[in-house]
Amino acid sequence: MVYREKILKLIKGMSSPVCPPVYRHSVFIPGIGIVFPSEDDCIEVARMLNVEKDVCREVVNAYNNWLKVSYKTHYIVSISLIKYALSVDSGEWARQIELWQRLGMWEHIVMSDAMPYEDMPVYLAEHYPTLPLYTGFFPALEEKLKDKETHGIVILDENYRAMTLLIDVLPRAHMVYIDPPFATGREFAYDDKYTLPLWTVMMYGRMVLGRALLKTDAFFMLHVDQRADYIGRYLLEEVFGKGSFVNEIIWAYYSGGVPEGAYPRKHDSIYIYRQGHSTLSVPQRLKPKFQGKLEDLRKKGKLFEDDRGPYVWHNRGRGEKEYVYGPISDVWTDISIINNMAKERYGFRTQKPEALLKRLIESATSEGDALLDFFAGSGTTPAVAYKLKRQFVAIEGAPHGGFFYTHKGKTYTGMLGRLMEVIAGFGAHEPTGVSYTPYSAIVKVFVPEDNDSSVL
Ligand SMILES: C[S@@+](CC[C@H](N)C(=O)[O-])C[C@H]1O[C@@H](n2cnc3c(N)ncnc32)[C@H](O)[C@@H]1O
Repeated sequence: MVYREKILKLIKGMSSPVCPPVYRHSVFIPGIGIVFPSEDDCIEVARMLNVEKDVCREVVNAYNNWLKVSYKTHYIVSISLIKYALSVDSGEWARQIELWQRLGMWEHIVMSDAMPYEDMPVYLAEHYPTLPLYTGFFPALEEKLKDKETHGIVILDENYRAMTLLIDVLPRAHMVYIDPPFATGREFAYDDKYTLPLWTVMMYGRMVLGRALLKTDAFFMLHVDQRADYIGRYLLEEVFGKGSFVNEIIWAYYSGGVPEGAYPRKHDSIYIYRQGHSTLSVPQRLKPKFQGKLEDLRKKGKLFEDDRGPYVWHNRGRGEKEYVYGPISDVWTDISIINNMAKERYGFRTQKPEALLKRLIESATSEGDALLDFFAGSGTTPAVAYKLKRQFVAIEGAPHGGFFYTHKGKTYTGMLGRLMEVIAGFGAHEPTGVSYTPYSAIVKVFVPEDNDSSVL
């Protein structure tokens, strides 16, 4: 048995998920296993686990070889931003139209059937200015766009590698939100067959990289459920340090499925940690006791207002103000999971509601700020970031990061397809979820060179 497999077996078999020497120094890479960036660390762990150390060089080499990848860059760009640069006689125009058709976007476009291809860009830019094109069809455009400012970045690669290799070109984020595999032991459109020890190893290195990509004052949010919440929190304490904890949001929802002999498990936790001195701006909500009573209080002249908002006056003691709006608490019961038939559902099983991301993003960031999600899935974070005028970096390693993917024999729209619809403002799913006004945008897409053709 080779060294790496031995370590993997040891980690999988550990009774405690938290084995600092291993998780601090090794990296778990799906499809490859455990690797070590440093030979010294590898030897140290070998010594601790009492396994032979002579193959450490091989394990370190595996890591270095895996890092040898170069990325191709493409763009998703609104037609109004490139209409005069667009050459339409390439034949690729037909492929672009086919993409719009597959995304249910083309049927929203009103245009004469007789319109020649060369007149289309100007016509479309005038009537559908935000309509996005994929430059994979128009390579000549890519040179023209390469120095332009982008509204977002999508990386279709394994997140540890992407963050390691692209750390210098990515913007520093005001907020990280991640919704990783929950260690359910199940297979979705992605693999979630993590044991807790392996999950620990997988998460730690990625959290450290995620932290390195934060601005000095920023938030890190980790979405988990009861399976790995305590380990996630433990790792966050370690990565961000004591005193960085801000909140545990309990997102409570209703869904079918009731276990026997236990209360139904109907909530996820979102741990919010702080870097620096950031403060959340917490939304205010009408207190339940004032629900349906404001009009009556106003009519009776009992509702007053100052710069903090409306209040009623109580005559007890020296008198006191009671504001009718108060901050929402850390238990959220007003956001439902997305039902399977909802327009918002892109077909992705573990897709999170846009309303949930909206609340998190608005409380932690302002317009123009940058967000990072390196377990991006169907792209809820970048979709809501765009809708709320935030920049985004979204990283996804599985095929559902691309335009389309097939799962159990059915084809669905993936993250890039979703972003096309979101930027256009129309398609098979959009508009849905968070309401917004579309605007013209440029999104840069990094794809490992050997995987370029898989995006479409
Ligand atoms: C729970 S889903 C995220 C769902 C997402 N929040 C949404 O609303 O669609 C977790 C995602 O992380 C991705 N993932 C898991 N391990 C990864 C890795 N090492 N690199 C990149 N993506 C990964 C999976 O493919 C999956 O899409």
